[in-house]
Amino acid sequence: MSRAFEPVTIGRYTARNRVVMAPMTRSRAHGPGASPTELMATYYGQRAGAGLIITEGTQPSAVGQGYPNTPGLHTAEQVEAWRPVTAAVHEQGGLIFAQLMHTGRIGHPEIYREELTPVGVSPVRADGSVYTANGPREFVTPEPLDEAGIRQTIADFASAARNAIDAGFDGVELHGANGYLLHQFLATNTNQRDDAWGGTVEGRIRFVVEVTEAVVAAIGADRVGLRISPSNPYNDIVEDDHRETYRALLGRLDPLGLAYLHVGEGPDTEFTDELRERWSGTLILNPFTPGGYTGAEALKLVDTGAADLVSYGALFLANPDLPYRLQVGGPFNTPDYTRAYGGDHEGYTDYPTLAEAGEA
Ligand SMILES: Cc1cc2nc3c(=O)[nH]c(=O)nc-3n(C[C@H](O)[C@H](O)[C@H](O)COP(=O)(O)O)c2cc1C
Repeated sequence: MSRAFEPVTIGRYTARNRVVMAPMTRSRAHGPGASPTELMATYYGQRAGAGLIITEGTQPSAVGQGYPNTPGLHTAEQVEAWRPVTAAVHEQGGLIFAQLMHTGRIGHPEIYREELTPVGVSPVRADGSVYTANGPREFVTPEPLDEAGIRQTIADFASAARNAIDAGFDGVELHGANGYLLHQFLATNTNQRDDAWGGTVEGRIRFVVEVTEAVVAAIGADRVGLRISPSNPYNDIVEDDHRETYRALLGRLDPLGLAYLHVGEGPDTEFTDELRERWSGTLILNPFTPGGYTGAEALKLVDTGAADLVSYGALFLANPDLPYRLQVGGPFNTPDYTRAYGGDHEGYTDYPTLAEAGEA
């Protein structure tokens, strides 16, 4: 039997297994003011058998929203609406962290409920487009954050983390991966600043370090995880010196004693072992699977010691009872990507468990 089904420590908690639900934006926060709904409580409750659930990307501020109908954690209304979600997971003994995602330059003015423009590190437009209620729109040139804007953004992350705890979450994951704001500070093509927030490796990692320190001060290191994706070009990211950058970043963050580091592996898969060595705490790995998705074979990464836990996106989307299915060797439902973003219960809460499918 794989060690993936044995308990493991995550910060102040013990997870019942090492199968993590990876964060997945589903754009179904149809509640008032970008709030979660009862349907979302059903969805996460169905997946409570995970060792840890990491929620969809959740904006820590209004301007941090980059996609339609993603939930927030910056108003009292949103905090209230998240409570049934965290309760649904806890009722079944599960653990749930909120992923705090500020999308930075990835977004569009038409996505906001108020008059806002996406903010970024430098005035560098991302190549590509984003889907809005009015159809696809090209990304815009972001408004670069000034010193006061950077300080406010750091404070917004800390405040959203406190709100997460208030809403019943066990902790938060800071989204430092996949080309969103934190990653935009780290990457050489998006960070063209020559002040203390850019210029050198030390300058480029500073924002991520300070956001992490502020969130740690707000809720405690043992309730804070960080997701990174070194060498991942998603969202028009170019990292000229990713190894040097992430070595420096881990050098600063490892001593903080975070709950975990979540590595979304990029094309430079050879770098993963080094990250593992440089991180003394718990490591969650989401393996690089170009053109496909992470499958049952990834559990061996736990057995070889390459990672402490493995996270699953697509397979967890389609299989609410994924840990059980992995344990018995499948079969697995196939994810319907046409229903990934937006819509209702279809392709969301209607994937059957093995028992419901009558195949148990
Ligand atoms: C529908 C969908 C939405 C996603 N949204 C997010 C997100 O909000 N935050 C994030 O860090 N990653 C997001 N991802 C990436 C996943 O967390 C994961 O890294 C990716 O799906 C690869 O893992 P897999 O092969 O197990 O699917 C998303 C993936 C999918 C399929």
